[in-house]
Amino acid sequence: MSVGASHSRLLVKGGKVVNADQSFEADVYIENGIISQVGKNLSTPGGTKVVDATGKLVMPGGIDTHTHMQLPFMGTFAVDDFYTGTKAAISGGTTMIIDFVLDQKGVSLLEAYDKWKGWADPKVCCDYSFHVAVTWWSPQVSEELLELVTNRGVNSFKMFMAYKDVFMLGDADLYEVYKRCRDIGALAMMHAENGDVIAHEQKRMLDLGITGPEGHEMCRPEDVEAEATNRAVMIANRVNCPMYIVHVMSKASADVIVEARRRGNVVFGEPIAAGLGTDGTNYWHKCWRHAAGHVMGPPLRPDTTTPKYLMKLLASGDMECTGTDNCTFNGSQKALGKDNFAKIPNGVNGVEDRMSVIWEKGVASGILDENKFVAVTSTNAAKVFNIYPQKGVIAPGSDADIIVWDPNATRTISAKTHHQAVDFNIFEGMVCHGVTVCTISRGKVVYEDGKFTVSAGDGKYVPRKPFCKYVYNRILKRQETHDPKKVEREPYTGPVHKIQGSTTSQSEESPRVRNMHHTTSINTSGQHISNGQTPTSPPTPSTKVLAPPGGKSQIQF
Ligand code: URP
Ligand code: ZN
Ligand code: ZN
Repeated sequence: MSVGASHSRLLVKGGKVVNADQSFEADVYIENGIISQVGKNLSTPGGTKVVDATGKLVMPGGIDTHTHMQLPFMGTFAVDDFYTGTKAAISGGTTMIIDFVLDQKGVSLLEAYDKWKGWADPKVCCDYSFHVAVTWWSPQVSEELLELVTNRGVNSFKMFMAYKDVFMLGDADLYEVYKRCRDIGALAMMHAENGDVIAHEQKRMLDLGITGPEGHEMCRPEDVEAEATNRAVMIANRVNCPMYIVHVMSKASADVIVEARRRGNVVFGEPIAAGLGTDGTNYWHKCWRHAAGHVMGPPLRPDTTTPKYLMKLLASGDMECTGTDNCTFNGSQKALGKDNFAKIPNGVNGVEDRMSVIWEKGVASGILDENKFVAVTSTNAAKVFNIYPQKGVIAPGSDADIIVWDPNATRTISAKTHHQAVDFNIFEGMVCHGVTVCTISRGKVVYEDGKFTVSAGDGKYVPRKPFCKYVYNRILKRQETHDPKKVEREPYTGPVHKIQGSTTSQSEESPRVRNMHHTTSINTSGQHISNGQTPTSPPTPSTKVLAPPGGKSQIQF
């Protein structure tokens, strides 16, 4: 397919460029990793390498918003590391992943970040960035979030309402983290499941003798996810913090997000390839390994209409991005839970197959058009995570992360032929229209006609700035205009009942919460300011309180 030798100059010729807003016939000329021109009859210097895209679609490379390469988890490590995982990604048309720094409670977030970066840098085959998980809360963590935002290029933090005693935070801590995220211009991300209920229900299932993978879904059905989603969205809205719900797996949880968006909340939902391409009936499969291979949290849903439901919400714009939650474990690792579903390492594949699965289930089935496909696999992610238009679009000045896509070719997904390290594939046997014939990363062909031309470490870390306009425009305006206002009234002068035994009035604020106020922050221009002086402090909810005379207070945007 390719002619010529130069790696710094590349011409993608004869294809149809598909962006999120429009499609048009054009060639794409790339110099030194950056798209230089998009148009017809481009004149290019001699020695330019040519990629023939005749009859094909030329699209922005996919951005997988949610991966866990080589994650240490549930007593073992995810088997796809930053090398095999990103290599598999480019073969499927994904040119950037955003992985999670996710360490234990009590570990410095900065040290965790440095550890993860040390793992990723020498191995990555495509560009990558990091979300950081906040699994514990203290003044130190609060300061570290600022450092991560200011000097490490992190603008998104994930919290867990599940994994009790491991990663889970309670509502009071979540409230504090959200305030901190808002003050430093970061996006709060949430794993939304009720961890307390899951812990009780796991015990109940085991007591009933249900030890197999079906118990995993039975102890955390849809409403366990939906309740937590609602709580996450509600608390974030109280403090005017933008919220991104990761791995939306159920119709009930999706409905919570859709309704919150209708009310005006700044909230985004992320379905994943697994939830769009398969379902939770697999937990009842007679083969234990097959059933365990699908165990992830929140679980896939036994309601077989769920994948199409989520896909339609991507089509309507109610759901924003698509990730994979790629976190893979081999059969022997899954077997850690052979006698107890609660010990099966949670996680599934997807980083290689996300683009094909979404094309097959979305575009080939008539739910998404090609432009919406680009929006939900790439452009929206670039916008939400503040790397647009560097990524997510084919336009002059953007990084040349491009795929040449054959919408008519088919491939059959199988663990026997996939490039991931894991020995199982949740999409086994699925025939997908839509095949990546060439992947270009930063202007270099890294995968073509089934062959890799990439080395470990070729990818780069992509730093991301805070106060992303796409996310924060409404938040900042509400900070200015939606302060609660007190009612001016004459002081009450009548009798006051005396509570027996009480001598002094008590503050409702705990010393721990008081401590949290003494932190530094940044303003939208990136200047450090002490919390007492921040224009957005003291923390104020995104609402105003209407207090009609003699009536109950009523809270509104
Ligand atoms: O099952 C899952 N999702 N494994 C990875 C950890 C997480 O919650 O994202
Ligand atoms: Zn999660
Ligand atoms: Zn995850």
